[in-house]
Amino acid sequence: MILGIESSCDETGVALVHAASNAPRLGGLVSAPYPVPTLLGAALHSQIDMHRAYGGVVPELASRDHIRRLIPLTNEVLAGANIALSAIDYVAYTCGPGLAGALLVGAGAACALGSALGKPVISVHHLEGHLLSPFLSADPPEFPFIALLVSGGHTQLMRVDGVGEYALLGETIDDAAGEAFDKTAKLLGLPYPGGPQLAKLAEGGDSAAFKFPRPLMHSGDLDFSFAGLKTAVLTQIKRLVGDVPEGATVRGAGIDSLNEETRRNLGASIQAAITEVLVKKSLKAVQQSGLSRLVVAGGVGANRSLREQLNAACAKVGIRVHYPELHLCTDNGAMIALAAAMRLQAGKAQSSRGYAFDVKPRWPLDQI
Ligand code: KG4
Ligand code: ZN
Repeated sequence: MILGIESSCDETGVALVHAASNAPRLGGLVSAPYPVPTLLGAALHSQIDMHRAYGGVVPELASRDHIRRLIPLTNEVLAGANIALSAIDYVAYTCGPGLAGALLVGAGAACALGSALGKPVISVHHLEGHLLSPFLSADPPEFPFIALLVSGGHTQLMRVDGVGEYALLGETIDDAAGEAFDKTAKLLGLPYPGGPQLAKLAEGGDSAAFKFPRPLMHSGDLDFSFAGLKTAVLTQIKRLVGDVPEGATVRGAGIDSLNEETRRNLGASIQAAITEVLVKKSLKAVQQSGLSRLVVAGGVGANRSLREQLNAACAKVGIRVHYPELHLCTDNGAMIALAAAMRLQAGKAQSSRGYAFDVKPRWPLDQI
C-alpha cells in the first residue's frame, strides 16, 4: 500500500496505490502480461485560481498552499478508500524536478509521515511519474516503447526499455511545448494556464489561416525548438492590430479588437504549429528505434488535437499509441504512487528509513 505525494509545482496531489507484493518482477519483462498496480483513491487541489491573478505560478505562494492542503488531502484519500493510516507500507514523494520550495513541502510531509509510522519513504522523479502514468489507463502499454513527454517544463523523446531504463533521444533546446502554449495564449489575452484555453479557442478555427514556423521540423534529429513561435505570433498580432509594446500582453492593446473568427484562426494555427512538430518527431523516433509503441504523457498530452493527429498518423504506419487517462495527464499524486509501486515491483526502488531528505529541482530523467 503506497501513499504518493506530488507537490512539484501548482498542484497538490495525494493518492493511494496498491501493488501486489508477489508480482513477477517487471524489470526484465518485455511483452509478458504483468499485474499493474491498482489506484485505490486520489485527491487533488489545483492552485490555478490562486496564481491566475499573477499570470503564472508564484513559487512562494505555491509552497505555502501545499502546506495547507497536504494533510486534508491525505485524510480525504484515506477516508475515501477506507484505509487506515497504519495500513500504509510506503510513503512516496516527488523529489524533483520542480520548484525547490514546493518540493520541500512534499518531501518534508512524506518523511514526517514515514517517520511517525515507522514506514520507509521512496523519492520519485516527477517525469518518471508522467512517463508511467499510462499504466493506470484502461489500455496500458507494454515495454519497450518510445515516450513523448510534453509538459509545462519539459519536451522530451525517450526510449523506455523497462522501469528505470530511460534513454534520452531528443529534447527541446529552448521552450517546452507547454510553455509555448502558455506564452502564446498569453499573447492572445487568455488567462493562465494558457494551454487548455488556447486549445478551446482553437476549436472550429482554421489551422491553415496563419503560417507559423515549425522549427527543427526537418533537422534530421529528434530535438525541438519552440522559443521562436511566440515572436512569430507577436509579429502576426502586431500586423493585425497595429503596434504593441514589446513584452506586453496584447490584451487591452488591441487583441480584443480582433473578431472571434480571427482569434480562433490564430489559436488553431498556433496549436497546429506545435502539434505538427510533436507528431512528426514522435513518429520518427518510433520508426528509427524499430519499436511499435508510443506513449504520450504530461499536461500537453491532454490536448485533443494532438491526440487526434497522433492517432491518425500512428494508425497509418501500424504504431500503437497509449495515453494516460485525461485526469492523469496533468500533475497528480497517482502517478507518483504508481512510479514507486512499479519500482518496488521491479526491485528498483530506493526506499529509505533515514528520513533525511533533499530535493532535486533540476534532475535529468536519464540520470536517475
Ligand atoms: O504536466 P503538467 O501538469 O505540469 C508540468 O509538469 O509542467 O503540464 C502543464 C502544462 C501547461 O503548460 C499547460 O498549459 C499544458 O500542460 N496543458 C495543455 C493542455 N492541458 C494542459 N496544453 C495544451 N492543450 C491542453 N489541453
Ligand atoms: Zn508535470
